[in-house]
Amino acid sequence: MKIHRSIKDLREGLREWRMAGERIGFVPTMGFLHEGHMSLVRRAQSGAKRVVVSIFVNPTQFGQAGDLEAYPRDEARDLALLEAAGVDAVFLPQAGEIYPQGDETIVETTRLANILHGQVRPGHFRGVTSVVARLFNIVQPDMAVFGEKDYQQLQVIRRMVRDLHMPVEILGAPTVREADGLAMSSRNVRLCPEDRAAAVVLSQALSVGEAVAAKGAGVEAIRAAIAAKIEAEPRATLMGLDAVHHSDLTEMSGPLSAPLAVMVSAQFSDILLIDQRVIQP
Ligand code: PAF
Repeated sequence: MKIHRSIKDLREGLREWRMAGERIGFVPTMGFLHEGHMSLVRRAQSGAKRVVVSIFVNPTQFGQAGDLEAYPRDEARDLALLEAAGVDAVFLPQAGEIYPQGDETIVETTRLANILHGQVRPGHFRGVTSVVARLFNIVQPDMAVFGEKDYQQLQVIRRMVRDLHMPVEILGAPTVREADGLAMSSRNVRLCPEDRAAAVVLSQALSVGEAVAAKGAGVEAIRAAIAAKIEAEPRATLMGLDAVHHSDLTEMSGPLSAPLAVMVSAQFSDILLIDQRVIQP
């Protein structure tokens, strides 16, 4: 596995594969990898001869400097996991490499970035698109894989790629779950045992939503059933519940006329967890 810390070195490393016509898959990450990330790597490996993973804790997508500093990092463990998974190359840049001195260019999906979760974290998706656009320009992959768990992020990236005519195929990979259904997250290890047991309510609530939809419920009733299930769990504080059109994330109401993307977030003590599901009409 090749490890590249500069853009120049990465480009030289990838040249040989590109010249040989080998398809390059890319998985951008912020490190501290878990099984969810490894499933993205496997998805990329199933569609590309070579897989490049980036590890870069992107400062522009964090609201407060404290959150950026507190973000967990474990480079040695990450590299061991990627090596064991058969990844071909890892890109580990410093912030100054990605955002050169005097950098003033931003990339933003102006509507999609500023609705739903974007209202709670202003500037977050602008930071994501600004870094992913740079990473795409640096790596120039044929395809890139993102988790469906961060559903709005996936739609924002799809829109950026479409609007800017970027020659990258974007693949969404399904959320990886613990045996009881809890969506995998690096935050799960920070839950106390009682909160860990209670957190399964998020995936259960989405199943309740799916079940009422199957019986013909409309958007409002689906939303109410999901909220009621989470609110019935005393250890959960419902923070967000969005039920929107699956691709443009616009509001939907009444009978289900298109796939409905449901995104939930809830607080367990001081840990915020998210989950999502697309409910078919
Ligand atoms: O999903 C993430 O880990 C990040 O938002 C990403 C896509 C690597 C951009 O920094």
